[in-house]
Amino acid sequence: MIPDKVPKEDVFHGSEELKKEAHVPSFERYKELYLKSIESPDEFWADIAKDFFWKTKHTGPFLDYNFDVTKGEIFVKCMDGASTNICYNVLDRNVHERKLGNKVAFYWEGNEPGDELTVTYRELLQRVCQFANVLKSHGVKKGDRVSIYMPMVVELVVAMLACVRIGAVHSIVFAGFSAESLCERIMDSQCSLLITADGFYRGDKLINLKLLADEALQKCRDKGFPVQRCIMLKHLSKEADETPLGSQSPPAKRSCPDLQVPWNPEVDLCWHTLVRGASDECEPEWCESEDQLFILYTSGSTGKPKGVLHTVGGYMLYTAATFKLVFDYQPDDIYWCTADIGWITGHSYITYGPLANGATSVLFEGLPTYPDVGRMWEIVDKYHVTKFYTAPTAIRLLMKYGSEPVQKYKRESLKVLGTVGEPINPEAWQWYYTVVGERRCPIVDTFWQTETGGHVLTPLPAATPMKPGSATFPFFGVVPAILNESGEELEGPSEGYLVFKQPWPGVMRTVYGNHQRFETTYFKKFPGYYVTGDGCRRDKDGYYWITGRIDDMLNVSGHLLSTAEVESALVEHEAVAEAAVVGRPHPVKGESLYCFVTLNDGVKYNRTLEAELKKQVREKIGAIATPDYIQDAPGLPKTRSGKIMRRVLRKIACDERDMGDISTLADSSVVEQLFQNRCCTGV
Ligand code: WT7
Repeated sequence: MIPDKVPKEDVFHGSEELKKEAHVPSFERYKELYLKSIESPDEFWADIAKDFFWKTKHTGPFLDYNFDVTKGEIFVKCMDGASTNICYNVLDRNVHERKLGNKVAFYWEGNEPGDELTVTYRELLQRVCQFANVLKSHGVKKGDRVSIYMPMVVELVVAMLACVRIGAVHSIVFAGFSAESLCERIMDSQCSLLITADGFYRGDKLINLKLLADEALQKCRDKGFPVQRCIMLKHLSKEADETPLGSQSPPAKRSCPDLQVPWNPEVDLCWHTLVRGASDECEPEWCESEDQLFILYTSGSTGKPKGVLHTVGGYMLYTAATFKLVFDYQPDDIYWCTADIGWITGHSYITYGPLANGATSVLFEGLPTYPDVGRMWEIVDKYHVTKFYTAPTAIRLLMKYGSEPVQKYKRESLKVLGTVGEPINPEAWQWYYTVVGERRCPIVDTFWQTETGGHVLTPLPAATPMKPGSATFPFFGVVPAILNESGEELEGPSEGYLVFKQPWPGVMRTVYGNHQRFETTYFKKFPGYYVTGDGCRRDKDGYYWITGRIDDMLNVSGHLLSTAEVESALVEHEAVAEAAVVGRPHPVKGESLYCFVTLNDGVKYNRTLEAELKKQVREKIGAIATPDYIQDAPGLPKTRSGKIMRRVLRKIACDERDMGDISTLADSSVVEQLFQNRCCTGV
């Protein structure tokens, strides 16, 4: 399945310099290890597991599973029966065994240049123990779910690791999500406690996070689910400066005249007051390998988000191994992943993977364009970043400003560049490679999902010849296949559904509280396979190219949204009778939201209504889901059985007249009508 020979032409190679020290220095070596990982996965992963501390050994097979719904329940178990603690492995072991106590775990770089902190492994461990004791004293026990709604601050890492230290399950909700979304997630996972912050700045915009958290808790209360406790970190208010977390005290860079911090003494607790009295020693809770580690919500095609559940042992092994090999981690690296911890990229490749390896990372609170478009490269130079991981949408955004803001900075420390979130168009790849990396740094285009826990298709920087736009080949232990509509595996060059034939340690275990939905979503369509929901092409050289989602999902700036989710937010408005949402290609965001709305009788479409609808979606879901276009649609193209033909709507959104076969439409005149009143003629 991995080609014997890789092509000599039209490919890019990692530098000789990199090959000298690399863990996997050649394609030959990759193939050898890959074969081993497939032929004897137990041996392969057991070797990696030796690097970790296990309180007790596993009892059953190393990796046990069923991927075939016709043969019974779907399950995956890794090192079942073994016990460990992931926090112990990523912190205590680094401080005590590897003597990395004084090594920097995070260089925190605030939104405002000059606002910075340094946190060592020892300090991080102390903070985590303190906060773990705080959680315990407020009744949080093993297995309890804790919701975290915080900006990109070190305390977010502290909160998540404190949870897992005591065996509690964190459910982090991206701080860009709305109160409604937070409420939905808190209720779905029945969280007993919420951790949040007063507020934060994104660029020059103030986000009153506590206000949103309170609104969410009120909604929970109204729906009969009162959350007893809310711990709030003062990030912007005065006290933040009085208890500096790192070794230096930060300058007071965060002025915020408009900060609103409502306080409910029955529920609210102040982070700083709580940790002040807490001991910085806390015995970890030993957990089973298959105990729940965390829940992270991702969009589902029915509109209701799915709580993707990961477990302790397998996720730990997989994020550690992928981090080490995909970024070719070396002890003197300074690594920077620009994602938010609220997404899986941040979970796996800011917190768990890098810390498991004892790496030093940059943790960045701000935006690539604030205060100017050179910020990323300024940070790269400031900390001498060697491995840099970002999203195609950020690259495309910066590309618009040309190479000059990049070339103002040296970037000579950079060795490996990574991307994640969506297919990277070859143009953006070339710019990243040539302008940012000066043809010196390989690009690892990592394909994966919230569900996969870590990278599944990816180049290894010193081993894999790269083709711009291709995620290349599978990571160790991963067996991809391409299926046609009837579920037959296609050989050689082909295009179809991307599926995986067997599990790897880090794959999700279930949808929280809904195992049936897990089976239906990922395993029903093609029994025996995990179905990604992505389309994929394999070229003549065996390279995999992701072609995009083939379900009702949209990818806006690397974030998945379901059309159903946006549609239901629109129809909740009293003026709207029906809505249909499709993606329209966008030069920076990848896709933008184009919404068709059919209004109730007697309602007239106007600018005020349009603004209200946009606001409605933003409030229901979050700013990332704000519609770019809304079109008044007196009728929608439907089949005789009443199914909306999205294919047709996508064409209308893009102003493409070539409709294909529309003979199944109940009333084809609506199509012409919709073309006539496109809301964005000329865009
Ligand atoms: C979906 C998963 C994985 C963390 C970020 C997104 C798309 C992701 C790539 C890539 C082509 C990609 C897929 C996938 N995707 N990375 N390198 N090339 N497509 O996590 O929100 O779970 O989204 O993102 O469509 O299924 P997510």
